[in-house]
Amino acid sequence: MVQTNTVALSALSVGIDGEHSRWEKQKTKIRVLPSQVRQATSDDLRNLSLSGHVGFDSLPDQLVNKSTSQGFCFNILCVGETGIGKSTLMDTLFNTKFESEPATHNEPGVRLKARSYELQESNVRLKLTIVDTVGFGDQINKDDSYKPIVEYIDAQFEAYLQEELKIKRSLFNYHDTRIHACLYFIAPTGHSLKSLDLVTMKKLDSKVNIIPIIAKADTIAKNELHKFKSKIMSELVSNGVQIYQFPTDEETVAEINATMSVHLPFAVVGSTEEVKIGNKMAKARQYPWGVVQVENENHCDFVKLREMLIRVNMEDLREQTHTRHYELYRRCKLEEMGFKDTDPDSKPFSLQETYEAKRNEFLGELQKKEDEMRQMFVMRVKEKEAELKEAEKDLHEKFDHLKRTHQEEKKKVEEKKVQLEEELNNFQKKKAAAQLLQSQAQQAGSQQTKKDKDKKNASFT
Ligand code: GTP
Ligand code: MG
Repeated sequence: MVQTNTVALSALSVGIDGEHSRWEKQKTKIRVLPSQVRQATSDDLRNLSLSGHVGFDSLPDQLVNKSTSQGFCFNILCVGETGIGKSTLMDTLFNTKFESEPATHNEPGVRLKARSYELQESNVRLKLTIVDTVGFGDQINKDDSYKPIVEYIDAQFEAYLQEELKIKRSLFNYHDTRIHACLYFIAPTGHSLKSLDLVTMKKLDSKVNIIPIIAKADTIAKNELHKFKSKIMSELVSNGVQIYQFPTDEETVAEINATMSVHLPFAVVGSTEEVKIGNKMAKARQYPWGVVQVENENHCDFVKLREMLIRVNMEDLREQTHTRHYELYRRCKLEEMGFKDTDPDSKPFSLQETYEAKRNEFLGELQKKEDEMRQMFVMRVKEKEAELKEAEKDLHEKFDHLKRTHQEEKKKVEEKKVQLEEELNNFQKKKAAAQLLQSQAQQAGSQQTKKDKDKKNASFT
Protein backbone atom coordinates (compact mmCIF):
# COMPACT_ATOMS: atom_id res chain seq x y z
CA MET A 1 0.00 0.00 0.00
CA VAL A 2 1.45 3.36 -0.98
CA GLN A 3 1.21 6.18 1.52
CA THR A 4 0.79 9.73 0.23
CA ASN A 5 2.06 12.74 2.10
CA THR A 6 2.25 16.37 1.14
CA VAL A 7 5.70 17.81 1.63
CA ALA A 8 6.74 21.44 1.27
CA LEU A 9 10.13 21.92 -0.30
CA SER A 10 12.51 24.32 1.38
CA ALA A 11 13.52 27.57 -0.29
CA LEU A 12 16.32 26.07 -2.34
CA SER A 13 15.35 24.95 -5.80
CA VAL A 14 15.30 21.23 -6.49
CA GLY A 15 14.67 21.43 -10.17
CA ILE A 16 11.38 19.64 -10.70
CA ASP A 17 10.19 22.84 -12.36
CA GLY A 18 12.81 21.82 -14.95
CA GLU A 19 10.04 19.56 -16.19
CA HIS A 20 8.31 22.79 -17.12
CA SER A 21 11.37 24.28 -18.81
CA ARG A 22 11.81 21.05 -20.74
CA TRP A 23 8.33 21.57 -22.10
CA GLU A 24 9.39 25.09 -23.05
CA LYS A 25 12.25 23.54 -25.04
CA GLN A 26 9.84 21.05 -26.54
CA LYS A 27 7.76 23.97 -27.74
CA THR A 28 10.61 25.17 -29.90
CA LYS A 29 10.98 21.71 -31.31
CA ILE A 30 7.28 21.29 -31.96
CA ARG A 31 7.14 24.63 -33.74
CA VAL A 32 9.48 23.44 -36.48
CA LEU A 33 7.72 20.12 -36.79
CA PRO A 34 5.01 20.83 -39.43
CA SER A 35 7.47 21.58 -42.23
CA GLN A 36 9.57 18.52 -41.28
CA VAL A 37 6.51 16.31 -41.30
CA ARG A 38 5.57 17.62 -44.75
CA GLN A 39 8.93 16.64 -46.19
CA ALA A 40 9.20 13.35 -44.41
CA THR A 41 5.75 11.90 -44.92
CA SER A 42 4.52 12.72 -48.38
CA ASP A 43 5.54 14.60 -51.48
CA ASP A 44 1.86 15.15 -52.26
CA LEU A 45 1.45 17.56 -49.39
CA ARG A 46 1.52 21.15 -50.56
CA ASN A 47 3.22 23.84 -48.62
CA LEU A 48 0.81 26.72 -48.15
CA SER A 49 1.49 30.04 -46.58
CA LEU A 50 -1.13 31.53 -44.30
CA SER A 51 -2.35 35.01 -45.02
CA GLY A 52 -3.15 35.71 -41.37
CA HIS A 53 -2.73 34.42 -37.81
CA VAL A 54 -4.78 31.26 -37.27
CA GLY A 55 -3.65 30.29 -33.78
CA PHE A 56 -2.46 26.68 -33.93
CA ASP A 57 1.00 27.89 -32.98
CA SER A 58 -0.40 27.94 -29.45
CA LEU A 59 -0.60 24.15 -29.45
CA PRO A 60 2.73 23.73 -27.59
CA ASP A 61 1.54 26.24 -24.97
CA GLN A 62 -1.69 24.28 -24.62
CA LEU A 63 0.36 21.13 -24.01
CA VAL A 64 2.53 22.85 -21.40
CA ASN A 65 -0.51 24.25 -19.61
CA LYS A 66 -2.30 20.91 -19.64
CA SER A 67 0.72 19.02 -18.32
CA THR A 68 1.39 21.62 -15.65
CA SER A 69 -2.18 21.51 -14.41
CA GLN A 70 -2.17 17.71 -14.43
CA GLY A 71 1.07 17.54 -12.47
CA PHE A 72 3.85 15.01 -12.89
CA CYS A 73 4.75 11.80 -11.25
CA PHE A 74 8.18 10.36 -10.58
CA ASN A 75 9.11 7.16 -8.79
CA ILE A 76 12.55 6.38 -7.43
CA LEU A 77 13.73 3.02 -6.17
CA CYS A 78 16.69 3.10 -3.75
CA VAL A 79 18.53 -0.20 -3.68
CA GLY A 80 21.29 -0.45 -1.13
CA GLU A 81 22.42 -2.11 2.06
CA THR A 82 20.97 -1.09 5.40
CA GLY A 83 22.49 2.15 6.65
CA ILE A 84 24.27 3.00 3.41
CA GLY A 85 22.69 6.47 3.32
CA LYS A 86 19.56 6.01 1.17
CA SER A 87 17.20 8.14 3.26
CA THR A 88 19.77 10.88 3.85
CA LEU A 89 20.45 11.16 0.12
CA MET A 90 16.75 11.41 -0.72
CA ASP A 91 16.30 14.14 1.88
CA THR A 92 19.33 15.97 0.48
CA LEU A 93 18.21 15.59 -3.13
CA PHE A 94 14.71 16.92 -2.56
CA ASN A 95 15.71 19.43 0.06
CA THR A 96 13.20 18.18 2.58
CA LYS A 97 12.73 15.62 5.32
CA PHE A 98 10.88 12.54 4.18
CA GLU A 99 9.53 10.05 6.66
CA SER A 100 11.93 7.21 7.35
CA GLU A 101 12.84 4.95 10.15
CA PRO A 102 16.19 3.13 10.25
CA ALA A 103 15.98 -0.57 9.46
CA THR A 104 17.36 -3.20 11.80
CA HIS A 105 19.99 -5.60 10.56
CA ASN A 106 17.94 -8.66 11.43
CA GLU A 107 15.21 -8.67 8.79
CA PRO A 108 14.51 -12.27 7.68
CA GLY A 109 14.38 -11.16 4.03
CA VAL A 110 14.35 -8.16 1.75
CA ARG A 111 11.11 -6.18 1.54
CA LEU A 112 10.18 -3.01 -0.27
CA LYS A 113 8.60 -0.01 1.34
CA ALA A 114 6.95 2.68 -0.80
CA ARG A 115 5.93 6.13 0.35
CA SER A 116 4.36 8.80 -1.85
CA TYR A 117 4.58 12.54 -1.39
CA GLU A 118 3.11 15.59 -3.12
CA LEU A 119 5.82 18.16 -3.83
CA GLN A 120 5.46 21.57 -5.39
CA GLU A 121 8.07 23.84 -6.90
CA SER A 122 6.95 27.09 -8.58
CA ASN A 123 3.66 26.01 -10.14
CA VAL A 124 4.81 22.48 -10.92
CA ARG A 125 3.34 19.69 -8.82
CA LEU A 126 5.19 16.41 -8.53
CA LYS A 127 3.84 13.21 -7.05
CA LEU A 128 7.01 11.53 -5.86
CA THR A 129 7.20 7.94 -4.71
CA ILE A 130 10.31 6.73 -2.93
CA VAL A 131 10.69 2.99 -2.65
CA ASP A 132 13.25 1.66 -0.20
CA THR A 133 14.77 -1.81 0.03
CA VAL A 134 14.53 -2.80 3.69
CA GLY A 135 16.95 -5.46 4.90
CA PHE A 136 18.95 -5.62 1.67
CA GLY A 137 22.29 -7.39 2.18
CA ASP A 138 21.54 -8.42 5.78
CA GLN A 139 20.84 -12.11 5.25
CA ILE A 140 23.48 -14.85 5.40
CA ASN A 141 22.11 -16.36 2.21
CA LYS A 142 21.69 -13.51 -0.24
CA ASP A 143 20.80 -15.66 -3.27
CA ASP A 144 17.20 -14.46 -3.37
CA SER A 145 17.77 -10.83 -2.34
CA TYR A 146 16.99 -9.54 -5.83
CA LYS A 147 13.66 -11.39 -6.08
CA PRO A 148 11.43 -9.05 -4.02
CA ILE A 149 12.81 -6.10 -6.00
CA VAL A 150 12.09 -7.73 -9.36
CA GLU A 151 8.66 -8.78 -8.13
CA TYR A 152 7.87 -5.24 -6.99
CA ILE A 153 8.89 -3.71 -10.32
CA ASP A 154 6.89 -6.34 -12.25
CA ALA A 155 3.87 -5.81 -10.01
CA GLN A 156 3.82 -2.10 -10.91
CA PHE A 157 4.08 -2.95 -14.63
CA GLU A 158 1.32 -5.51 -14.23
CA ALA A 159 -0.96 -3.01 -12.51
CA TYR A 160 -0.44 -0.55 -15.37
CA LEU A 161 -1.03 -3.28 -17.98
CA GLN A 162 -4.25 -4.33 -16.27
CA GLU A 163 -5.42 -0.73 -16.32
CA GLU A 164 -4.55 -0.49 -20.01
CA LEU A 165 -6.44 -3.71 -20.79
CA LYS A 166 -9.59 -2.59 -19.01
CA ILE A 167 -12.58 -1.71 -21.15
CA LYS A 168 -13.18 1.38 -19.04
CA ARG A 169 -9.68 2.75 -18.65
CA SER A 170 -8.73 5.72 -16.54
CA LEU A 171 -5.07 6.18 -17.40
CA PHE A 172 -5.59 9.93 -17.27
CA ASN A 173 -5.82 10.00 -13.47
CA TYR A 174 -4.10 6.66 -12.86
CA HIS A 175 -1.45 6.79 -10.14
CA ASP A 176 1.47 5.41 -12.08
CA THR A 177 3.74 3.53 -9.67
CA ARG A 178 6.17 2.17 -12.27
CA ILE A 179 9.76 2.79 -11.22
CA HIS A 180 11.39 5.51 -13.32
CA ALA A 181 14.84 5.47 -11.78
CA CYS A 182 16.72 2.98 -9.66
CA LEU A 183 19.53 4.49 -7.62
CA TYR A 184 21.86 1.63 -6.88
CA PHE A 185 23.96 2.43 -3.80
CA ILE A 186 27.44 0.90 -4.00
CA ALA A 187 29.35 0.60 -0.70
CA PRO A 188 32.50 2.76 -0.68
CA THR A 189 34.88 -0.17 -0.26
CA GLY A 190 37.41 1.12 -2.79
CA HIS A 191 37.72 -2.50 -3.90
CA SER A 192 35.23 -3.80 -6.44
CA LEU A 193 31.57 -4.59 -6.75
CA LYS A 194 30.18 -7.30 -4.52
CA SER A 195 28.61 -10.28 -6.24
CA LEU A 196 25.27 -9.26 -4.69
CA ASP A 197 25.55 -5.90 -6.50
CA LEU A 198 26.34 -7.53 -9.84
CA VAL A 199 23.61 -10.15 -9.57
CA THR A 200 20.99 -7.60 -8.50
CA MET A 201 21.89 -5.06 -11.19
CA LYS A 202 21.93 -7.80 -13.85
CA LYS A 203 18.45 -8.94 -12.82
CA LEU A 204 17.12 -5.38 -12.86
CA ASP A 205 18.76 -3.88 -15.93
CA SER A 206 16.04 -4.89 -18.39
CA LYS A 207 13.30 -3.68 -16.08
CA VAL A 208 14.42 -0.31 -14.80
CA ASN A 209 16.80 2.60 -15.47
CA ILE A 210 19.74 1.90 -13.19
CA ILE A 211 21.90 4.79 -12.05
CA PRO A 212 24.81 3.45 -9.98
CA ILE A 213 26.12 5.69 -7.23
CA ILE A 214 28.94 5.32 -4.74
CA ALA A 215 27.46 6.08 -1.34
CA LYS A 216 29.24 7.87 1.51
CA ALA A 217 31.94 8.99 -0.89
CA ASP A 218 33.50 11.12 1.84
CA THR A 219 34.93 7.92 3.30
CA ILE A 220 37.13 7.18 0.31
CA ALA A 221 40.33 8.97 -0.77
CA LYS A 222 40.33 10.95 -4.03
CA ASN A 223 42.87 8.84 -5.97
CA GLU A 224 41.26 5.61 -4.74
CA LEU A 225 37.85 6.91 -5.79
CA HIS A 226 39.06 7.43 -9.33
CA LYS A 227 40.36 3.86 -9.57
CA PHE A 228 37.24 2.53 -7.85
CA LYS A 229 34.99 4.25 -10.38
CA SER A 230 36.82 2.78 -13.39
CA LYS A 231 36.91 -0.65 -11.73
CA ILE A 232 33.14 -0.54 -11.20
CA MET A 233 32.47 0.56 -14.79
CA SER A 234 34.70 -2.14 -16.26
CA GLU A 235 33.07 -4.77 -14.05
CA LEU A 236 29.62 -3.64 -15.17
CA VAL A 237 30.70 -3.84 -18.81
CA SER A 238 32.38 -7.23 -18.47
CA ASN A 239 29.29 -8.64 -16.76
CA GLY A 240 26.98 -7.19 -19.38
CA VAL A 241 25.06 -4.97 -16.96
CA GLN A 242 23.16 -2.27 -18.85
CA ILE A 243 22.94 0.90 -16.82
CA TYR A 244 20.90 3.94 -17.81
CA GLN A 245 22.50 5.88 -20.66
CA PHE A 246 21.98 9.63 -20.47
CA PRO A 247 20.43 10.58 -23.84
CA THR A 248 22.73 12.33 -26.26
CA ASP A 249 20.44 12.39 -29.29
CA GLU A 250 18.69 15.59 -28.33
CA GLU A 251 20.87 18.59 -28.96
CA THR A 252 19.69 20.60 -25.96
CA VAL A 253 20.98 17.99 -23.51
CA ALA A 254 23.56 16.11 -25.59
CA GLU A 255 26.55 18.05 -24.37
CA ILE A 256 25.80 18.01 -20.66
CA ASN A 257 24.82 14.34 -20.76
CA ALA A 258 27.95 13.33 -22.64
CA THR A 259 30.13 15.24 -20.14
CA MET A 260 28.34 13.80 -17.13
CA SER A 261 28.40 10.19 -18.33
CA VAL A 262 32.18 10.23 -17.85
CA HIS A 263 31.70 10.72 -14.11
CA LEU A 264 29.60 7.61 -13.60
CA PRO A 265 29.11 6.11 -11.07
CA PHE A 266 28.48 9.33 -9.20
CA ALA A 267 30.23 9.46 -5.85
CA VAL A 268 27.77 11.12 -3.53
CA VAL A 269 27.63 12.47 -0.02
CA GLY A 270 24.35 13.08 1.75
CA SER A 271 23.59 15.46 4.56
CA THR A 272 20.76 17.70 5.60
CA GLU A 273 22.88 19.46 8.18
CA GLU A 274 23.71 23.09 7.39
CA VAL A 275 27.22 24.33 8.19
CA LYS A 276 28.42 27.92 7.94
CA ILE A 277 30.99 28.20 5.16
CA GLY A 278 32.32 31.71 4.72
CA ASN A 279 29.23 33.82 5.12
CA LYS A 280 26.86 31.26 3.67
CA MET A 281 25.12 28.22 5.06
CA ALA A 282 25.67 25.04 3.07
CA LYS A 283 24.77 21.39 3.42
CA ALA A 284 27.84 19.59 4.65
CA ARG A 285 29.28 16.87 6.86
CA GLN A 286 31.62 18.14 9.50
CA TYR A 287 34.68 16.17 10.60
CA PRO A 288 37.47 16.96 13.07
CA TRP A 289 39.82 17.53 10.14
CA GLY A 290 37.45 19.50 7.90
CA VAL A 291 34.10 19.91 6.22
CA VAL A 292 32.72 17.95 3.25
CA GLN A 293 30.34 20.11 1.29
CA VAL A 294 27.56 18.20 -0.39
CA GLU A 295 27.07 20.72 -3.18
CA ASN A 296 30.76 21.34 -3.84
CA GLU A 297 31.75 19.57 -7.04
CA ASN A 298 35.33 19.28 -5.82
CA HIS A 299 34.13 17.28 -2.85
CA CYS A 300 31.61 14.93 -4.44
CA ASP A 301 29.27 14.32 -7.40
CA PHE A 302 26.04 15.14 -5.58
CA VAL A 303 25.33 18.14 -7.84
CA LYS A 304 25.97 16.03 -10.93
CA LEU A 305 23.53 13.40 -9.72
CA ARG A 306 20.86 16.01 -8.97
CA GLU A 307 21.45 17.63 -12.34
CA MET A 308 21.18 14.35 -14.22
CA LEU A 309 18.36 12.78 -12.25
CA ILE A 310 16.09 15.75 -11.69
CA ARG A 311 17.01 18.79 -13.72
CA VAL A 312 17.95 17.30 -17.10
CA ASN A 313 16.73 13.75 -17.54
CA MET A 314 13.65 13.28 -15.39
CA GLU A 315 11.37 13.27 -18.42
CA ASP A 316 13.68 10.95 -20.35
CA LEU A 317 13.72 8.54 -17.41
CA ARG A 318 9.92 8.55 -17.43
CA GLU A 319 9.84 8.08 -21.18
CA GLN A 320 12.41 5.26 -21.16
CA THR A 321 10.41 3.50 -18.47
CA HIS A 322 7.31 3.60 -20.65
CA THR A 323 8.79 3.01 -24.09
CA ARG A 324 11.55 0.56 -23.21
CA HIS A 325 11.04 -1.26 -19.95
CA TYR A 326 7.25 -1.31 -19.77
CA GLU A 327 7.04 -2.09 -23.49
CA LEU A 328 9.30 -5.11 -22.99
CA TYR A 329 7.22 -6.31 -20.03
CA ARG A 330 3.99 -5.78 -21.96
CA ARG A 331 5.30 -7.59 -25.05
CA CYS A 332 6.53 -10.61 -23.08
CA LYS A 333 3.31 -10.74 -21.09
CA LEU A 334 1.05 -10.53 -24.15
CA GLU A 335 3.16 -13.11 -26.00
CA GLU A 336 2.93 -15.34 -22.94
CA MET A 337 -0.86 -14.95 -23.16
CA GLY A 338 -0.69 -16.03 -26.81
CA PHE A 339 -1.10 -12.68 -28.56
CA LYS A 340 0.97 -12.11 -31.68
CA ASP A 341 1.26 -9.35 -34.27
CA THR A 342 1.88 -11.81 -37.14
CA ASP A 343 0.68 -15.30 -38.04
CA PRO A 344 3.11 -18.20 -38.73
CA ASP A 345 3.47 -16.91 -42.34
CA SER A 346 4.56 -13.50 -41.03
CA LYS A 347 1.33 -11.91 -42.17
CA PRO A 348 -0.22 -9.24 -39.92
CA PHE A 349 -2.52 -10.76 -37.40
CA SER A 350 -5.05 -8.51 -35.75
CA LEU A 351 -6.11 -8.62 -32.12
CA GLN A 352 -9.57 -9.71 -33.30
CA GLU A 353 -8.07 -12.63 -35.24
CA THR A 354 -5.87 -13.58 -32.30
CA TYR A 355 -8.91 -13.48 -30.08
CA GLU A 356 -10.92 -15.65 -32.51
CA ALA A 357 -8.02 -18.11 -32.87
CA LYS A 358 -7.58 -18.25 -29.09
CA ARG A 359 -11.32 -18.66 -28.60
CA ASN A 360 -11.49 -21.51 -31.12
CA GLU A 361 -8.44 -23.12 -29.57
CA PHE A 362 -10.02 -22.77 -26.15
CA LEU A 363 -13.37 -24.16 -27.34
CA GLY A 364 -11.56 -27.05 -29.06
CA GLU A 365 -9.70 -27.83 -25.87
CA LEU A 366 -12.91 -27.54 -23.88
CA GLN A 367 -14.65 -29.99 -26.27
CA LYS A 368 -11.70 -32.38 -26.03
CA LYS A 369 -11.77 -32.20 -22.26
CA GLU A 370 -15.54 -32.75 -22.25
CA ASP A 371 -15.17 -35.84 -24.49
CA GLU A 372 -12.39 -37.16 -22.33
CA MET A 373 -14.48 -36.63 -19.23
CA ARG A 374 -17.48 -38.32 -20.83
CA GLN A 375 -15.37 -41.32 -21.82
CA MET A 376 -13.87 -41.42 -18.39
CA PHE A 377 -17.36 -41.28 -16.88
CA VAL A 378 -18.65 -44.15 -19.05
CA MET A 379 -15.55 -46.19 -18.21
CA ARG A 380 -15.97 -45.50 -14.50
CA VAL A 381 -19.67 -46.49 -14.64
CA LYS A 382 -18.78 -49.73 -16.42
CA GLU A 383 -16.05 -50.45 -13.90
CA LYS A 384 -18.43 -49.78 -11.04
CA GLU A 385 -21.11 -51.97 -12.64
CA ALA A 386 -18.62 -54.81 -13.01
CA GLU A 387 -17.53 -54.33 -9.42
CA LEU A 388 -21.15 -54.41 -8.23
CA LYS A 389 -21.88 -57.57 -10.26
CA GLU A 390 -18.84 -59.21 -8.80
CA ALA A 391 -19.96 -58.23 -5.32
CA GLU A 392 -23.49 -59.55 -6.03
CA LYS A 393 -22.06 -62.86 -7.25
CA ASP A 394 -19.93 -63.12 -4.13
CA LEU A 395 -22.98 -62.42 -1.98
CA HIS A 396 -25.00 -65.09 -3.78
CA GLU A 397 -22.20 -67.60 -3.34
CA LYS A 398 -21.93 -66.71 0.34
CA PHE A 399 -25.71 -67.04 0.72
CA ASP A 400 -25.77 -70.46 -1.00
CA HIS A 401 -22.88 -71.62 1.13
CA LEU A 402 -24.62 -70.43 4.30
CA LYS A 403 -27.88 -72.08 3.17
CA ARG A 404 -26.11 -75.36 2.52
CA THR A 405 -24.32 -75.24 5.86
CA HIS A 406 -27.58 -74.40 7.58
CA GLN A 407 -29.40 -77.35 5.97
CA GLU A 408 -26.57 -79.73 6.86
CA GLU A 409 -26.59 -78.45 10.43
CA LYS A 410 -30.38 -78.82 10.55
CA LYS A 411 -30.17 -82.38 9.24
CA LYS A 412 -27.52 -83.23 11.81
CA VAL A 413 -29.64 -81.77 14.59
CA GLU A 414 -32.69 -83.76 13.45
CA GLU A 415 -30.67 -86.97 13.32
CA LYS A 416 -29.37 -86.24 16.78
CA LYS A 417 -32.94 -85.60 17.92
CA VAL A 418 -34.13 -88.94 16.54
CA GLN A 419 -31.19 -90.69 18.16
CA LEU A 420 -31.86 -88.98 21.48
CA GLU A 421 -35.57 -89.85 21.28
CA GLU A 422 -34.65 -93.49 20.67
CA GLU A 423 -32.27 -93.41 23.59
CA LEU A 424 -35.00 -91.82 25.71
CA ASN A 425 -37.51 -94.55 24.72
CA ASN A 426 -35.00 -97.28 25.53
CA PHE A 427 -34.30 -95.61 28.80
CA GLN A 428 -38.03 -95.36 29.59
CA LYS A 429 -38.48 -99.04 28.77
CA LYS A 430 -35.52 -100.02 30.92
CA LYS A 431 -36.85 -97.83 33.70
CA ALA A 432 -40.31 -99.43 33.53
CA ALA A 433 -38.79 -102.94 33.53
CA ALA A 434 -36.62 -102.04 36.51
CA GLN A 435 -39.61 -100.64 38.38
CA LEU A 436 -41.59 -103.82 37.62
CA LEU A 437 -38.81 -106.02 38.87
CA GLN A 438 -38.49 -103.90 41.98
CA SER A 439 -42.18 -104.12 42.80
CA GLN A 440 -42.20 -107.87 42.16
CA ALA A 441 -39.25 -108.27 44.47
CA GLN A 442 -41.00 -106.26 47.17
CA GLN A 443 -44.13 -108.34 46.84
CA ALA A 444 -42.19 -111.58 47.08
CA GLY A 445 -40.35 -110.21 50.11
CA SER A 446 -43.53 -109.33 52.03
CA GLN A 447 -45.15 -112.77 51.32
CA GLN A 448 -42.07 -114.50 52.69
CA THR A 449 -42.18 -112.39 55.87
CA LYS A 450 -45.86 -113.35 56.42
CA LYS A 451 -45.06 -117.03 55.93
CA ASP A 452 -42.21 -116.72 58.44
CA LYS A 453 -44.56 -115.01 61.01
CA ASP A 454 -47.23 -117.64 60.60
CA LYS A 455 -44.63 -120.39 61.07
CA LYS A 456 -43.40 -118.69 64.28
CA ASN A 457 -46.90 -118.25 65.62
CA ALA A 458 -47.71 -121.94 64.88
CA SER A 459 -44.60 -123.15 66.79
CA PHE A 460 -45.53 -121.09 69.90
CA THR A 461 -48.98 -122.40 69.99
P1 GTP B 1 18.22 2.23 6.41
O1 GTP B 1 16.98 2.90 5.94
O2 GTP B 1 18.19 1.93 7.87
O3 GTP B 1 18.59 1.04 5.60
O4 GTP B 1 19.44 3.25 6.26
P2 GTP B 1 19.68 4.26 5.08
O5 GTP B 1 20.32 3.55 3.97
O6 GTP B 1 18.46 5.03 4.81
O7 GTP B 1 20.79 5.21 5.73
P3 GTP B 1 20.57 6.58 6.47
O8 GTP B 1 20.31 7.66 5.48
O9 GTP B 1 19.59 6.41 7.56
O10 GTP B 1 22.02 6.82 7.03
C1 GTP B 1 22.63 5.94 7.94
C2 GTP B 1 23.80 6.64 8.59
O11 GTP B 1 24.77 7.02 7.61
C3 GTP B 1 23.38 7.93 9.28
O12 GTP B 1 24.13 8.06 10.47
C4 GTP B 1 23.79 9.02 8.29
O13 GTP B 1 24.14 10.22 8.93
C5 GTP B 1 25.04 8.40 7.67
N1 GTP B 1 25.25 8.91 6.33
C6 GTP B 1 24.33 9.15 5.41
N2 GTP B 1 24.89 9.62 4.30
C7 GTP B 1 26.22 9.67 4.54
C8 GTP B 1 27.35 10.06 3.78
O14 GTP B 1 27.25 10.48 2.63
N3 GTP B 1 28.57 9.97 4.35
C9 GTP B 1 28.74 9.51 5.61
N4 GTP B 1 29.96 9.45 6.10
N5 GTP B 1 27.71 9.13 6.37
C10 GTP B 1 26.46 9.20 5.83
MG1 MG C 1 16.46 4.67 5.36
